[in-house]
Amino acid sequence: MNRLSGKTALITGAGSGIGRVIAHTFGKEGAAVVCADIKGFEETAKEVRDAGGKAIGVELDVSKLDSWKKAVDLAVKEFGGIHALANVAGISEAVDIIDLEEKDFDKMMNVNLKGVFFGMKTVLPHFVENGSGKIVNIASLAAHVGLTGLPSYSASKGGVVSMSRQVAMQYAGRNIQVNAVSPGIIETPILANNPPEVTKQFTDATPANRLGRPDEIASMVLFLCSDESDFITGQAMIVDGGWGSQ
Ligand SMILES: NC(=O)c1ccc[n+]([C@@H]2O[C@H](COP(=O)([O-])OP(=O)(O)OC[C@H]3O[C@@H](n4cnc5c(N)ncnc54)[C@H](O)[C@@H]3O)[C@@H](O)[C@H]2O)c1
Repeated sequence: MNRLSGKTALITGAGSGIGRVIAHTFGKEGAAVVCADIKGFEETAKEVRDAGGKAIGVELDVSKLDSWKKAVDLAVKEFGGIHALANVAGISEAVDIIDLEEKDFDKMMNVNLKGVFFGMKTVLPHFVENGSGKIVNIASLAAHVGLTGLPSYSASKGGVVSMSRQVAMQYAGRNIQVNAVSPGIIETPILANNPPEVTKQFTDATPANRLGRPDEIASMVLFLCSDESDFITGQAMIVDGGWGSQ
């Protein structure tokens, strides 16, 4: 129950779905949790506190660098430091590339890829000063295999995997581990952005014959933010019920 005791972790996308469950999991494991999102962040922080954990909520638009600086400053002020970052916030859009609008492509990149860039850029100076740190960036199976109807989403998540690997190499010698986690299809509100037939097609393609659960991603993120994974860096851990292995 204390795999993260003494650590402060900032989780983006903590207002919903996978990020919310990661916040609960980290709270139970003894971390001080900074629940960051554009909505739902106060509710999640309260849930973590009600369950006996330590947490604050903070409004953070991951696509805005100023917003990141304020959130990380708050984490350091409230809890005396920052030791782990889980970049979970993300959006998705199912569309044919012919119909994909430039503004929607830019929005996808701004949230899913630039948001991860800004997060790593903002916390790394603190991690270097601490002499350690953990970053987990949520990508997707769409970064590894071609999936129908997700051109901008796939591109953004491919960027997350590549950037995670690069930053991992750059900071491995300073005891900072950077990994990506690539979920398959997980039952969260984001699936409402896909037409039901796309969700069905993805579920049918999963050898485990079911949707994944957010706690099945949270347990991997927990492992990668704990001391148990200190020799693991630059990896993309695929958690997908076997989908990508076919
Ligand atoms: N659910 C799946 O099947 C699945 C599969 C692969 C990858 N993922 C990834 O997992 C992550 C979490 O998704 P989820 O399934 O929990 O979806 P979700 O919609 O439940 O949660 C996403 C959260 O990100 C937040 N967010 C969106 N834009 C933001 C911004 N600009 N700044 C801060 N927060 C913002 C939303 O408010 C929301 O709370 C995403 O990165 C998603 O791409 C999900």
